[in-house]
Amino acid sequence: MLIRLIYVSTSQDGVDLDEFKRILLQAQANNERHDLTGMLAFNSKIFLQALEGDRDQVNDLYNRIARDPRHRAVTILSCKEIQERHWFNWSMGFAAPNADNRALFLKYSQKSAFNPYAMGCDAAEKMLMELANTTIAMTQPQSQASGSAAGAPLAAPAPQPPLSSAASTGIFARFLKK
Ligand SMILES: Cc1cc2nc3c(=O)[nH]c(=O)nc-3n(C[C@H](O)[C@H](O)[C@H](O)COP(=O)(O)O)c2cc1C
Repeated sequence: MLIRLIYVSTSQDGVDLDEFKRILLQAQANNERHDLTGMLAFNSKIFLQALEGDRDQVNDLYNRIARDPRHRAVTILSCKEIQERHWFNWSMGFAAPNADNRALFLKYSQKSAFNPYAMGCDAAEKMLMELANTTIAMTQPQSQASGSAAGAPLAAPAPQPPLSSAASTGIFARFLKK
């Protein structure tokens, strides 16, 4: 059975850009091996992650993630059977919620701040999908530069992510595509 699980959590002090990159690398490597896909949003404090795949695999991974000392207050927003994946091309995509996404947060919640704890399940899922589109735009230059097929509709101009030093050097772009 194919399912999608979405949870929100709060990073522990000390989770910086380097640690976040380690998490993404781990996710990329492990998820691809287990045919898991998804999206991870991180604004340097709050994680919002969607995991898609076989129910047993998603359960195993979620249990591992929930025990990870790099975050706390891990809270499931939704878990449901799905007919198809949203992020079938992404072993673990990365989205960077920032001040530029204010309108997006307002679209899906009462406040213009990124606070998935206060969001409904459907709203969180839709926001994650829209944030993912932002990320595709963010990684376009790297895809073009490396000659790899991005295969995704691209918006211009690319918004400025908060982790701009990493993003502008294309570090994340290498992690994103399955
Ligand atoms: C916010 C967050 C998201 C994570 N997402 C994933 C993930 O998608 N896939 C994964 O394998 N590990 C993920 N991890 C890491 C796991 O908690 C765990 O450390 C890892 O799966 C162990 O991998 P290993 O057995 O290769 O050492 C995440 C950790 C955090 C804190």
